[in-house]
Amino acid sequence: MRELVYYVAVSVDGFIADVDGGFDAFMVEGDHESVVLQEYADALPAHAHAALGTEPPGTRFDTVVMGWNTLRPALDVGIASPYPHLHQVVASRGGRTVDPTLALVRDPVACVRELKAGDGLDVWLCGGGQLAGALLPEIDRLVLKRHPVVLGAGIPLFGGVTAGAARFTPTRLRPFESGVVVEEYARR
Ligand SMILES: NC(=O)c1ccc[n+]([C@@H]2O[C@H](COP(=O)([O-])OP(=O)(O)OC[C@H]3O[C@@H](n4cnc5c(N)ncnc54)[C@H](OP(=O)(O)O)[C@@H]3O)[C@@H](O)[C@H]2O)c1
Repeated sequence: MRELVYYVAVSVDGFIADVDGGFDAFMVEGDHESVVLQEYADALPAHAHAALGTEPPGTRFDTVVMGWNTLRPALDVGIASPYPHLHQVVASRGGRTVDPTLALVRDPVACVRELKAGDGLDVWLCGGGQLAGALLPEIDRLVLKRHPVVLGAGIPLFGGVTAGAARFTPTRLRPFESGVVVEEYARR
């Protein structure tokens, strides 16, 4: 079955970005790069592939879902379509415009249910925290790149969740020499 996978970098204390929305505290280089560059190369933006001289493999994800605040930094630097190799879905409650190749949706939960009912590779939930909170009931798998840093404050992994616990089972935990631990969980 097609799954919704929240694949994201996170601090020890559960923040995906600092208070300014940046993530300079997260290490790019290190042996955990094998996960980023090989297993999850479909989740690299086109400009990263261009810089690396690589191509997205098209084996892990064919769709990305992101909140408006996650797309915005790309727009701010003139990138209208960061993942052109994926079907790109952007959640917004309205009043935004995006490149015509991106799908703008007001109801990301309904959209994700429809995507999961269809055929294809898994759907990558890119973030951010607000959208992940709204989509929590639909998340099948978590792949957390846990960086060895405490941010103390910032954008939480899940924003605005008020309902009860969502239970997951750890399926794989991989500590890397860099200090990053890649944690994988499946919904129980
Ligand atoms: N560490 C990582 O790997 C990683 C990954 C992704 C993002 N990030 C960071 O996370 C930050 C953004 O996260 P965030 O929590 O602030 O925002 P976000 O979830 O990316 O975007 C929030 C916006 O998405 C739309 N939205 C969210 N939930 C919705 C719903 N249920 N229905 C309709 N629209 C909905 C709304 O857009 P409108 O305002 O248009 O209505 C809302 O203001 C950025 O700093 C980004 O760099 C980090």
